[in-house]
Amino acid sequence: MGLYLWEEKHMKSIVIYFSESGNTKKAAQFIAQETHSDIDELKPIKPYPDNYDQLVERSGDEIDNNIHPEIDKNLNFSDYNVIYLGYPTWYHRTPMIIDSFFDTYDLSSKTIIPFTTTYSSEFDESKPFIEKIASTKNVTLSPGFRANSNTEIKKYLAK
Ligand SMILES: Cc1cc2nc3c(=O)[nH]c(=O)nc-3n(C[C@H](O)[C@H](O)[C@H](O)COP(=O)(O)O)c2cc1C
Repeated sequence: MGLYLWEEKHMKSIVIYFSESGNTKKAAQFIAQETHSDIDELKPIKPYPDNYDQLVERSGDEIDNNIHPEIDKNLNFSDYNVIYLGYPTWYHRTPMIIDSFFDTYDLSSKTIIPFTTTYSSEFDESKPFIEKIASTKNVTLSPGFRANSNTEIKKYLAK
């Protein structure tokens, strides 16, 4: 089997993203396009409110009370070795739905490449949180990146 075929068979990647207001979705779509990855969305069973004050209240309450919101269980990763995992930075950290993701799915032996969109925060703010979550699982965590613009994304992917 040639190397190309081997890579195609063994290095399939998918972009999984959680996005409340569309920024992370846009970044995820660009990453999927640039890396020839499949793409799917991580969603809570109970949608987050559109109303900003209510969203702030619920997301803050989840953090304060260590609530891992229930997520839909329809994602299937068995075919993929590499997962680009996207989320907005909330309160300088990962949203609690990222904890739910790691609870819910068997990610054994997969490589996770985290990325985030933010208003102004650096990736380094959410990094310790994703590192802590991933450390309890049998995954390889790649250095992640902030994906606030296509330029930022391209810079990471070119590495
Ligand atoms: C509850 C909440 C908390 C947020 N906290 C931060 C923050 O700590 N730092 C930051 O730069 N942006 C923060 N933001 C802004 C989002 O990270 C930013 O708008 C992100 O791109 C939204 O992604 P989305 O459109 O995929 O949901 C926050 C937004 C919300 C709704």
